[in-house]
Amino acid sequence: MPHRAPGAPERSRQNYLSGKPIRYYRPRGSADIRHLIDEGFQAFNAARLGEACRIFADKMLLPEHDTTIALTIAGAMTPAGLGGCVVEMMERGLIDFVISTGANLYHDLHYALNFTLHRGSPFVNDVELYEEGVIRIYDVLFPAKVLLETDAYIRDFLVRSGLDGPLSTAELHYALGRDLMERQPGCEQYSVVAAAAAAGVPIYTSSPGDSSIGMNLAYHELMNGARLMIDPNKDVNEVCAIILAGKKNGCVILGGGSPKNFYLQGQPTLWEVYGIPKGGNDYFIQITTDQVVWGGLSGATPAEAVSWGKVNPGVLPDTVVTYIDSTVAFPLFCEYAVGAPTGRRERKQLMHKRDALVASLLEQARSARREHPEPEEPLETMPDLERHR
Ligand SMILES: NC(=O)c1ccc[n+]([C@@H]2O[C@H](COP(=O)([O-])OP(=O)(O)OC[C@H]3O[C@@H](n4cnc5c(N)ncnc54)[C@H](O)[C@@H]3O)[C@@H](O)[C@H]2O)c1
Repeated sequence: MPHRAPGAPERSRQNYLSGKPIRYYRPRGSADIRHLIDEGFQAFNAARLGEACRIFADKMLLPEHDTTIALTIAGAMTPAGLGGCVVEMMERGLIDFVISTGANLYHDLHYALNFTLHRGSPFVNDVELYEEGVIRIYDVLFPAKVLLETDAYIRDFLVRSGLDGPLSTAELHYALGRDLMERQPGCEQYSVVAAAAAAGVPIYTSSPGDSSIGMNLAYHELMNGARLMIDPNKDVNEVCAIILAGKKNGCVILGGGSPKNFYLQGQPTLWEVYGIPKGGNDYFIQITTDQVVWGGLSGATPAEAVSWGKVNPGVLPDTVVTYIDSTVAFPLFCEYAVGAPTGRRERKQLMHKRDALVASLLEQARSARREHPEPEEPLETMPDLERHR
């Protein structure tokens, strides 16, 4: 029986969608959880999680540090109900911008549109699921109809919005969030995309074609002759401009994947491409199951990031990687942050400042170029650039 655990009871066909609905969990700042993390998590990855919580609450959130904080999201977090943690953190001004896989934003729309995802078992017969039109993300189960109706909503929104020409993903997601709030009043309480629009938090996607949102954008171009398209250059420059404007910069990385690099490459874009040395990130927290030994970006440590100018070499004590499933660690991390004395900040409203920030990036990049014009001799002869090749 390859589809179920040895000894697990076989489930009848009609039971697949009978599990409890998955709801967005909202952290409330539990004093017990803070106590557990401070006093009970004393070694190994529990201690690393405690360190991450304290770096975030006691340093990154300190008003005098005024850290610009990014959250990067990869792995099936919204299907698992963790969108509520992101909503709470954005509402409280604890996250200033988000870089997510498209999958997490797409699956967030199901909650906004009041569709139900169910708790289930990973030990099921996938052929039977296929025959019954049930979709599975490990142990999260929902009817295929949810996909089809969410897709139809996205296509209707694209037509209705009149969006045209090149856009950054932040602009697209903002328009989507506004539309959701208009059509499903109150949904900003249980949708990351809507809550971000309400809180002025820009959401970027590092690979816009890699999700059902991207699939429906492609449909819009092919079938409707629309000229709306995502311009990744805008995303790169907006993220870079936001980082440049930060007094201090810090990130919370869930999983790894392309959102991790899309955030971290902001610092090298500044020094390597625009000639503006910002000095690297001041804080770096990663919650992941990815390992360093395979050499991939997802598992790369903050120390490795120092060599790229992504992390400030002087701040390694303010960086931490905790090797835990994010579905366990992130809600605990958020409970700790929400319950901290620093657990609310004024929102930066970066969504509405992007144009000004990009203008400032342009000005500083031009002045850096004037001070250090393009070299005329071949790059190989320049020892300081050679170091970073
Ligand atoms: N319909 C869509 O738009 C669409 C597109 C792609 C993926 N999906 C679904 O969405 C889910 C999420 O896909 P994704 O693109 O966000 O990335 P992913 O699931 O491929 O994960 C990317 C990264 O996160 C890490 N990671 C994953 N789960 C983790 C966990 N629980 N704890 C810690 N680290 C973890 C991985 O090791 C990897 O570095 C997939 O499981 C898939 O079922 C849907």
